[in-house]
Amino acid sequence: MTKLILILVAEIFLLTAIASAGDDFARTMNKKLIDLPKHETLTHLRLYWHDSIGGQNPSTVRIQQPVSNSSLFGSISMTDDALTTDVMKNSTVVGQAQGIYAGAAQGEISLLMVLNFAFKTGKYNGSTITILGRNPVMEKVREMPVVGGSGMFRFARGYVEARTKFVDLKSGVAIVEYNCYVLHY
Ligand SMILES: *[C@@H]1O[C@H](CO)[C@@H](O)[C@H](O)[C@H]1NC(C)=O
Ligand SMILES: *[C@@H]1O[C@H](CO)[C@@H](O)[C@H](O)[C@H]1NC(C)=O
Ligand SMILES: *[C@@H]1O[C@H](CO)[C@@H](O)[C@H](O)[C@H]1NC(C)=O
Repeated sequence: MTKLILILVAEIFLLTAIASAGDDFARTMNKKLIDLPKHETLTHLRLYWHDSIGGQNPSTVRIQQPVSNSSLFGSISMTDDALTTDVMKNSTVVGQAQGIYAGAAQGEISLLMVLNFAFKTGKYNGSTITILGRNPVMEKVREMPVVGGSGMFRFARGYVEARTKFVDLKSGVAIVEYNCYVLHY
């Protein structure tokens, strides 16, 4: 009996040694060791995204032209757009939407959006949320996932609903309302 226990103990040690040989870069951690608030918070943010690809001060540059002008497939644009509290361009700027959008569909206009919303004011100053999703821009409401965040939005997850409020293809200006529903600590 004692012998059996000894063998079992030895085996557990051996297995632990084998497991830790390659796994010592990761460990299970007590959540209390990072300063997380006790409960998750659900925050709703309503923001207006001001995109302009033309004009004197474009906030977006096209870095790759599309292979089709009807679907915009293959186009890639880099953007640094103001996020404001209202639909008017002169309303309060609370942050920037920085990232890339790209034509990702061949039979329709649907963009791959990779955006960091970087907040610049108030308690969210310095915090970000990251949106990664599919944006079929001709649809009235486009839902995209919030895949993460930083600062006030650590461990963020959620979704946004994007609705186009204004678009002028000639000047390349678009204003899109983003309702963001974000769970975070
Ligand atoms: C798309 O339109 C632009 C501007 O009119 C033109 O220069 C370009 O050749 C077109 N691209 C394709 C793939 O038709
Ligand atoms: C913003 O612009 C609109 C018209 O473009 C104007 O009526 C309004 O007074 C402006 N608001 C501010 C705060 O400048
Ligand atoms: C936001 O934070 C930056 C860096 O700490 C600071 O320089 C800036 O003044 C802050 N902005 C506002 C509006 O508080």
